[in-house]
Amino acid sequence: MSSTGEEIAATAEPGASALASQDGVQSNPADQLVEENESLQARLTTTNAELVHSSARLREVEHQLEEQEKIYSEAAADQQKDYIAQCDSLKADIASLTSQLTHLKNELSSAPVTDDNRPATPAGTNVTDGLQKIQRVFKVVLVGDSGVGKTTFIRHLCLGQEAANATSSTVGVDFYTKLMTVQGQCTSLKIWDTAGTERFRSITKSYFRDANGVLLVYDVTAVKSFSHVRQWMGDILENADDHVVVMVLGNKTDVVAERLEDDSVLTNHGRTLADSYRSLFAEVSAKTGAGIADAMAMMIRAMQDVEDEQIRRTRLAVDVDNEGKSGSRSCC
Ligand code: GTP
Repeated sequence: MSSTGEEIAATAEPGASALASQDGVQSNPADQLVEENESLQARLTTTNAELVHSSARLREVEHQLEEQEKIYSEAAADQQKDYIAQCDSLKADIASLTSQLTHLKNELSSAPVTDDNRPATPAGTNVTDGLQKIQRVFKVVLVGDSGVGKTTFIRHLCLGQEAANATSSTVGVDFYTKLMTVQGQCTSLKIWDTAGTERFRSITKSYFRDANGVLLVYDVTAVKSFSHVRQWMGDILENADDHVVVMVLGNKTDVVAERLEDDSVLTNHGRTLADSYRSLFAEVSAKTGAGIADAMAMMIRAMQDVEDEQIRRTRLAVDVDNEGKSGSRSCC
């Protein structure tokens, strides 16, 4: 037994010295291998965990990067849209100013002038009478889907049938003037014809401000244009003054055959919708001119009534105010 033990000691000695621990205590080589193995396993586990963590972080960063890219491209697209809208708005302004200028030039050139370059006055009247000729001035805005016949309507009313047939899609807004005598009063209409296409919608909204009247046109042969009347009403209610007069106007009544088909709007449907908004209602043919003067006269009467009521209320308020002042003076 002892000799075998010595042999083992003799053969184990060189390896044992190599496996001696730093503090000089020698441990079993098998144990040391196990220990090393465990330590390696632990490092492997830690490294694995770090790898998983880093991969997750990488995915997170990549996702954030994608989100940022999306935001930047959306912001760039929004900015581009803004620029396009601004350009459209400027183009519309230029078109409307050009149109106004043309009308004013036409008015100026058709006005008779005296030798000293002042407006001529009819015999028996004076300059003041001449200026007083226009008793009312109303701003009217035309809205409705593209192609319902807004431009045709207003050109027929202001320029006659021939001019009415030469229309092209409105860009932004166009401006017209018309003098009409209703209830014995000469009324000047300043009419803004707006584009029905969606991209000009925000521009159109800005024209409702200070408008005395809005003509909301639909095409009696196109149900779609009628179904959009509620949306247009929403825009009007949101942006126009409370006392604005709105007329729902069904156009293209001359197209009788198409009116009898399914895709048409019957008169009572138009009237019922207008009634639900307490609006005026009329049907016309901008092409033939049928009903357009009557519709405008109805609109003017309503605007005159609204203005009269406003004047009456203002006077009443001033009277009450004055009475209050004089009453408080006498009591002091
Ligand atoms: P946007 O300027 O795009 O908003 O269109 P709009 O509503 O001003 O329509 P527009 O007056 O340009 O008319 C569109 C088309 O409908 C044109 O071809 C007109 O000739 C035609 N049109 C307009 N009114 C009538 C009408 O009473 N009867 C018929 N048959 N056609 C009409």
